[in-house]
Amino acid sequence: MSFVYMKILESRPERYDAGMELLTLGSLTQVKREIARHIPSGSSVLDLGCGTGTLAQMCAERGARVTGVDANSGMLSMAAKNSPSANFMNSSLCHLDEHFEDESFDFILSTLAFSELTRAERIHVLKQIKRLLKKGGRIFIGDEIIPDNLFAKGLYHLFRLPLRLLTWVLTQTTTHAISGFEEDVRAAGMKIISRKRYMLGTFILLEIKI
Ligand SMILES: C[S@@+](CC[C@H](N)C(=O)[O-])C[C@H]1O[C@@H](n2cnc3c(N)ncnc32)[C@H](O)[C@@H]1O
Repeated sequence: MSFVYMKILESRPERYDAGMELLTLGSLTQVKREIARHIPSGSSVLDLGCGTGTLAQMCAERGARVTGVDANSGMLSMAAKNSPSANFMNSSLCHLDEHFEDESFDFILSTLAFSELTRAERIHVLKQIKRLLKKGGRIFIGDEIIPDNLFAKGLYHLFRLPLRLLTWVLTQTTTHAISGFEEDVRAAGMKIISRKRYMLGTFILLEIKI
């Protein structure tokens, strides 16, 4: 997987979308389209770690009222250009409790943001999602995971190690593919309704309800 390059791309927001398209061989766009397909007109949508706002725009084009949250102001500037009708907020995902009331959204979405959080942060954000989702609402989370299958796991680590090293040299940072995420979702009292796998099982899209 080439997702460790995300951090490089995030530091250059104007190149982020083109870079991710190339690095994921179109899978990220495919995942976003798949999510947007479920969003009906008039629904309220929260996109966590919205980045440059491409998913927000797909949902806005379907007539949804979209709020995007991200902590990177460069990404948010791109988002405002890409999706002029959406609202964007500069905030850490760990501070959602300061901004939104209970049961504010019909849909809560996130692509490639959970993998940038620590496990404690992920658990905290899952609790907040549960609080913020309206009754009958849906959650879609697409992210990089460490595959369960032993062989796939070995290949994944072999491929990832040089990329992690290169990313560290260039940016002094890295990403952390999620391990055990489905257990954390269930432990938060949520139900996984469906899962789709992409990129040899290293990227997963979960549809979740409460
Ligand atoms: C890899 S990008 C994904 C962007 C977008 N969701 C997409 O799929 O193209 C991860 C985004 O999450 C944001 N992010 C990471 N940790 C965050 C945090 N703790 N609070 C808010 N945003 C965060 C980053 O700023 C970045 O824009």
